[in-house]
Amino acid sequence: MKKHVSNLFFEKYGHNASKTYFSPGRVNIIGEHTDYNGGLVMPFCIDKGLYAAVGRNNRNEINIYSENFSILGIITVDLNDISYELNKNFSDYLLGVMKEIYDKGKLLNYGLDIVLSSNLPVGGGLSSSAALSILLLSVFNYEFGLGFGKLDIVKMAKSVENNFLGVKCGIMDQFVIGFGRENTALLLDTKSLKYEYLLIDFNEVNFVLINSNTTRKLKESKYNERQAETKEVLTIINRTFDYEYLTDISMSDLSKVIEVVDSEVLRKRLTHVVKENNRVKLAKEMILNKKFDELGKLLTEAHYSLKDDYEVSTPVLDELVEIALKSGALGARMIGGGFGGSTINLVLKKDLDGFIKKFKDSYEGKYENSFLYSIVYAKDGFKRID
Ligand code: GLA
Repeated sequence: MKKHVSNLFFEKYGHNASKTYFSPGRVNIIGEHTDYNGGLVMPFCIDKGLYAAVGRNNRNEINIYSENFSILGIITVDLNDISYELNKNFSDYLLGVMKEIYDKGKLLNYGLDIVLSSNLPVGGGLSSSAALSILLLSVFNYEFGLGFGKLDIVKMAKSVENNFLGVKCGIMDQFVIGFGRENTALLLDTKSLKYEYLLIDFNEVNFVLINSNTTRKLKESKYNERQAETKEVLTIINRTFDYEYLTDISMSDLSKVIEVVDSEVLRKRLTHVVKENNRVKLAKEMILNKKFDELGKLLTEAHYSLKDDYEVSTPVLDELVEIALKSGALGARMIGGGFGGSTINLVLKKDLDGFIKKFKDSYEGKYENSFLYSIVYAKDGFKRID
């Protein structure tokens, strides 16, 4: 991929790139829709992601070309006259990133050519957007010596989503792409931003990622709707109680707190968030003690909670979970925001071949498209390649 993206750079701009960078996608073991509620998450980075080749130009413009959106050609932003109007394509991330940098009082003071290439499955729910904003922010940080630290970059990337693009996401994706580390899952407390690395024994279990090959159009508006619902339920609860975040409500207080919420829908949202946050704590103990059977059950429980209480799953995702359980997975669930994307399946290494075969047979008997899967391992987060 590195060679590929450098060659593409030469092809597009007629000079050599001076550096290449890589920003990975991510999966999440458990802790879904907890991150904008001050809770715990447990993601890790994978080996697929976005590559960038970059080199200076002397025209005082930022040029960007993405192989995955080749139809758009090279997109140019004139540094003498930046317009922050949304284009409704991937280049909005570039604009959002530049706005963050300029709002912090820093400047891009010479031209840069950029080529992007990705091997992340499109619509796979593996956080290609956070990978892109972390990548662009880090490229500018290094190339222009802006002096931002890793945590600044993570927070700025989240702000691009929240404030420029209007997606009210939490900090999980950006954080793990910034801080992820090989062989470990990142256990992050999104309230304090304290984190620890949990070693995963990939000799005993595998995580199999299965792409549903579907994304719903309303994905982002539905996501924002869930975020708004959790905010609303917190406001209702705080007429009687005093919690900073929904995840501050303990499991034992849930039954008392839920009494003050009349809406059935909001009760369900609340239940998911509080229980999901508790599941992350349980998952930590299971990983440390290698209780993978129990971990599998917990993942499946999380799926049903996302399906029934948080209502962010889809019939295809539900079906993929059912097939996985029948094919011998210890547990399975949808990952990420939902409304399409992928499932993650916990499988004992010794059962892996049988699982893939059984799954493939059931899947291909039912769906026309081929079964898209990969075995994922925990990898490092963003890095400069050279
Ligand atoms: C998306 C968001 C994250 C997180 C997940 C759900 O990936 O970007 O911040 O909320 O959904 O857990």
